[in-house]
Amino acid sequence: MKTLIRAVAVALVATAAFGTAADAGPRDKPAQGKSLGDKDYSWNANGGEKDEALHLKPDLKNGREVYEVCAACHLPEGWGQTDGTFPQLAGQHNKVIIKQLADIRALNRDNPTMYPFALPDQIGGPQAIADVAAYIGTLKMNPEPGYGDGTDLEHGKKLYKENCVRCHGEHGEGNNDKYYPRLESQHYAYLLRQYQWIKEGKRRNANPDMVKQIQTFTDRDTKAVLDYVSRIKPPANLIGVKGWKNPDFQ
Ligand code: HEC
Ligand code: HEC
Repeated sequence: MKTLIRAVAVALVATAAFGTAADAGPRDKPAQGKSLGDKDYSWNANGGEKDEALHLKPDLKNGREVYEVCAACHLPEGWGQTDGTFPQLAGQHNKVIIKQLADIRALNRDNPTMYPFALPDQIGGPQAIADVAAYIGTLKMNPEPGYGDGTDLEHGKKLYKENCVRCHGEHGEGNNDKYYPRLESQHYAYLLRQYQWIKEGKRRNANPDMVKQIQTFTDRDTKAVLDYVSRIKPPANLIGVKGWKNPDFQ
């Protein structure tokens, strides 16, 4: 198992994929997804791999095998990096994981770092998506995610209540059935990047109501609201123990 993780790490260093690669790669190819400006854009349209994966019975054992390659970046625990380079996957809703993975594969999201490792010839088709999403569903969340500077939390709370609760829920818990991501305890720096990309339309297939709503947010608003929500603790039964190492990959 470790060999594969190391191989991915080596490939990453070799292509200097960390950091700057986010500005190169698949974005230069024509995106297959529709974007907000398109006449026939419809958020989260039915069809494609997402729907196929949702209707398959997951095989956890295979999910664990598929996850091996993911572990190289998202870590064996699914906790990601506090600097936001790699998001935390643990605790994210099953349908969100499936939709986002399908979106990444369909180039609806620009993710040149992960893209080559997530393709069907690497991990398999919709069944692999269902399997790995189910495996991720077994992982408890990072007890110490990355936060913002904590200086503007009252402002953040007010904005959150007024603008975000309707979809992301009172505590940032999201909604599996509606594909609304859990935001609580996700790394602040990751949320910040995604929020910006959603605002600019760079993340295609994002909810158009949210895109519209956040256009008037200033930098101060954005930082405050995301710092606030990243600090909310999910229910204790979802959180892992500090220092836990996933025995599946030891
Ligand atoms: C080479 C590093 C790398 C590997 C390997 C990798 N990922 Fe990722 N993944 C990323 C990065 C970077 C992002 C965030 C991209 C961005 O900022 O939009 C991401 C984002 C995601 C997201 C979106 C999370 C969200 O909150 O929206 C999902 C889901 C995901 N990865 C699942 C997987 C799965 C499943 C695998 C294994 C099959 C995998 N990743 C392998 C680097 C990687
Ligand atoms: C109309 C519903 C709606 C509203 C209102 C909304 N969002 Fe979202 N948000 C979504 C959906 C849906 C996604 C997932 C996008 C996708 O489908 O790819 C999302 C994604 C995000 C993400 C990226 C999360 C990730 O894991 O990649 C962030 C950050 C976010 N929202 C923050 C906010 C904040 C902060 C507010 C309030 C200012 C807000 N949203 C208001 C529906 C909404």
